[in-house]
Amino acid sequence: MADRVVVTGGAGFIGSTLADALVARGDDVHVIDNLATGRRDQVPNAATFHELDISDVDALHDLAAEIGPIARWYHLAAQADVRVSVTDPAFDARVNVIGTIGVLRAARLHDAIVIFASTGGAIYGECSNGPAPESTPELPESPYGAAKLAAEVFLGQDARLYGGRHTVMRYANVYGPRQDPHGEAGVVAIFGGRVLRGEPARIFGDGTQTRDYVYVGDVVAATIAAADAAADGSDADLRAAGTLPIYNIGTGNETSVLELWDTTERAAGTELGREFHAARDGEVLRSVLDASHARTRLGVTFDTPLEQGLKATIEWLDTRVEA
Ligand SMILES: NC(=O)c1ccc[n+]([C@@H]2O[C@H](COP(=O)([O-])OP(=O)(O)OC[C@H]3O[C@@H](n4cnc5c(N)ncnc54)[C@H](O)[C@@H]3O)[C@@H](O)[C@H]2O)c1
Repeated sequence: MADRVVVTGGAGFIGSTLADALVARGDDVHVIDNLATGRRDQVPNAATFHELDISDVDALHDLAAEIGPIARWYHLAAQADVRVSVTDPAFDARVNVIGTIGVLRAARLHDAIVIFASTGGAIYGECSNGPAPESTPELPESPYGAAKLAAEVFLGQDARLYGGRHTVMRYANVYGPRQDPHGEAGVVAIFGGRVLRGEPARIFGDGTQTRDYVYVGDVVAATIAAADAAADGSDADLRAAGTLPIYNIGTGNETSVLELWDTTERAAGTELGREFHAARDGEVLRSVLDASHARTRLGVTFDTPLEQGLKATIEWLDTRVEA
């Protein structure tokens, strides 16, 4: 059934890809974004664009009233740069915590479902025991991770106080066309840029640090499936004890920086070599999510092969360089 939906952050990497998919399924899509990192030209033509800062909570509320009955808010707008959060944690919290409180208040106007883009990597920290399930202790090391976790807590509180059917998506390192080099999987865009310019990789540390790279198309499909489960009530048992459904979204595969560079070279059909530089302070060594809960409950997969996804990303980066 077609719905009126809002995508906050719908001019960004994941949000605009999601907005495209929602338009394709016939939804009436409204994008709210202040273009801090997003691009106006990424918003689908069939969507209505509203330029607004989500931390202006009164303006957001007024806009929701103006848009009219909204069934779902896909809340992806964020200050998503971990380094910015370290230098300016108050700014990060204004967007990621106050902004989320604003979204919850605006969504309440129409009893809308809120699907929140959270983070597994920045909430669990070091995954020394391999793929981290949702029950892993939450130990954020950055203000960004702390703010995302705080926002999750507000989602749960809103659901308990007002009966909202909200859902938390904890993404791993999302990559694909339109991605920004400053995001959590920024290294993919950086490596893609280097193969296009014919430059070797710059690797910090010994390159054995691992991440869980999940393709944006798979992330978008899972996000919509989670919203559908909230809408049709098939996730009701996950809400029974006053909790919210929380889904890790990742492949469960660890890819080292060295493997990522080798696969990027293969995807681009080139061999440029590597340069090693001093390790960066405080970098997590292993980050990988166990997403079996999402697979089982939502019937989704995260199976886009890395080389195929990297090829699509490099092709997109190439068109952007030419544009
Ligand atoms: N990319 C990843 O690997 C990853 C991993 C985990 C979680 N996430 C989360 O997924 C979401 C989307 O991330 P992305 O990688 O597409 O990042 P992105 O920076 O491309 O998208 C964020 C969007 O939010 C907008 N925005 C920022 N501040 C805003 C504000 N105050 N008001 C309105 N709009 C604002 C930006 O302009 C941008 O369009 C974010 O919530 C991010 O924290 C991303």
